[in-house]
Amino acid sequence: MSISQKESAAHLRSCELGCLSSEELGKLGPFAAMTLIHDKKVALCEELENIADCLPSNVDELTCLSVAAKLLPILRLAHEYEESVIFPTYEKAVADTGQNMSIDRLRGEHISDECFAADLTGILLKIGHGGYVDQAETFRFMLRGFFYSLRRHVAFENEHVVPIIRKSTLSHPNRF
Ligand SMILES: [Fe+2]
Repeated sequence: MSISQKESAAHLRSCELGCLSSEELGKLGPFAAMTLIHDKKVALCEELENIADCLPSNVDELTCLSVAAKLLPILRLAHEYEESVIFPTYEKAVADTGQNMSIDRLRGEHISDECFAADLTGILLKIGHGGYVDQAETFRFMLRGFFYSLRRHVAFENEHVVPIIRKSTLSHPNRF
């Protein structure tokens, strides 16, 4: 496990939201921050998948409340950092290389993920407060659509954005 991965793992264990503030992510630097953000998103996907697997009768209400409380905040904090630091760094790094992959699609996915997460949050809160899961199959379908999409987004950024960010961070350590 690399130092960045160890830092990320330690932060993942020790914080819920605070480590995703711009200030705390800024202390880590772009590469480690992106690792932490992706770890958080992947962990969210695992929790949502567990909820989907437990629907309709075995779902834990406290788990639903816990996920509802952090789903949107995690995404908003992560997206704020990605869009203000990671994407501009990426665009600057690839500007002269001929690689001009547009990141507009990634920004668009951030927006749609937040909208989708808002819908899921409402249902999770209802279940968490003892509400009846009246359309369990539909909710399961929504959950799966969300975490499949989020995992694809993370995988794409890991494959195409993170290597460039890592290279840029190593080449210009004083810039960050
Ligand atoms: Fe992203």
